[in-house]
Amino acid sequence: MTKILLIGSGGREHTIATTLVKSQNVHLFALPGNPGISRIAQIVALNAKNHQEISNFCLDNSIDLVVIGPEQPIADGLSDVLRSDGINVFAPSRSAAQLETSKLFAKQFMEKYNIPTARFRAFDKSQKQAASDYILNSDLPVVIKADGLAAGKGVIVATTTGEALQAIEEMFGGSFGSAGEKIVVEEFMQGEEASIFAITDGSNFVTLAPAQDHKRILDGDKGKNTGGMGAYCPAPIVTPEVLEKVKSQIIIPTLKGMSEEGHPYVGCLYVGLMINEGNPKVVEYNCRFGDPETQAVLSVFDGDFAELLFSAAKGELNASAIREISRGYATCVVLASKGYPDKYETGFEITGLDEITDNVIVYHAGTKEIDGKIHTNGGRVLGVTALGASLKESQTNAYKAVDIIHFENKYFRRDIAAKGIKYSS
Ligand code: AMP
Ligand code: GLY
Repeated sequence: MTKILLIGSGGREHTIATTLVKSQNVHLFALPGNPGISRIAQIVALNAKNHQEISNFCLDNSIDLVVIGPEQPIADGLSDVLRSDGINVFAPSRSAAQLETSKLFAKQFMEKYNIPTARFRAFDKSQKQAASDYILNSDLPVVIKADGLAAGKGVIVATTTGEALQAIEEMFGGSFGSAGEKIVVEEFMQGEEASIFAITDGSNFVTLAPAQDHKRILDGDKGKNTGGMGAYCPAPIVTPEVLEKVKSQIIIPTLKGMSEEGHPYVGCLYVGLMINEGNPKVVEYNCRFGDPETQAVLSVFDGDFAELLFSAAKGELNASAIREISRGYATCVVLASKGYPDKYETGFEITGLDEITDNVIVYHAGTKEIDGKIHTNGGRVLGVTALGASLKESQTNAYKAVDIIHFENKYFRRDIAAKGIKYSS
């Protein structure tokens, strides 16, 4: 029996949990979990911020592996506390996670190791004038990024100089707290985005099905940035040739460089790409699985996921734990509360969850169970994920299920996967 503790409470974690319990002989614990996760895992009632308490729980209960879903506990050093107590962890150390937690670290690292990315300049708070001068001489659009973690809100793609100057004013003015004390100003990259997850033990790695996220709130990639309104995989933009380049020009030098820097990277390395005419460049790294890409990627995964993550955590990646990276296609449509990513209401009962068909999995994100009934409890509520033999079929199945599930103020995009389907027609 492999005892696994999963940290997190979102749609990504419900998907990781669902895939882990498909493995033989797994007993899953979750902290704090959500109503979807609670059906397949034993919920642990501990303070998620008290790392030593979590470590003690693992030691007392002979936990074999801890899988950390979100970036915040990794940035706060949970992996380091657990590892120092001899517990296997699938997540990078705090110092390796700097690839996500500091944009400046990531850019300087990529520059040093010749990893393709947008040209950039970095400025700190004392260099506001120099940053303004640099922007005045930059081509438009220009991209301004706060250095630290800012819940996906620290990136401004400015189409006018005025907007760019206002962005640095706000960042240096403290609107992102200490995350904005340093900024990166970078060149705008043309192309189409894709996300690739590499599962790694620090030196060896395997990639999962390439996916595409839909970050904007409105159809046609318009409106505000969100945590992600849907995803699909495998993404046709990532051809076998592009994937080879991603491995040789990005993933291999990243893992090698991180080891050389003294921060060996163990866990899931999320590579956010901009692909232009078959050439991939890094937009961002994340130190964890993506949300909602994971909902699509793991729904097509065929293999022993628990063994894959456990072997990586132990430093002996077992690539044969994967039978097929993708069995068919998957589309995940996020059902959100109207008003998200700004103000929205919650507390509405969700109906139709019992009526969905076999080829659809509904992952819980912002839900709450009251007297056996599921209610909305967040901006992103559910990830309705459907399989299909083609991308189009998975999309059709997903939207059929979306029509069956009801709650007040339900909002979703109607064009998830459309960009990928264009390639096949
Ligand atoms: P990030 O948090 O760094 O992934 O940035 C958020 C979003 O901003 C990305 O998903 C892209 O859509 C966009 N973006 C960031 N950097 C660039 C860039 N240099 N060129 C074009 N778009 C970018
Ligand atoms: N879907 C984007 C992210 O997880 O950062």
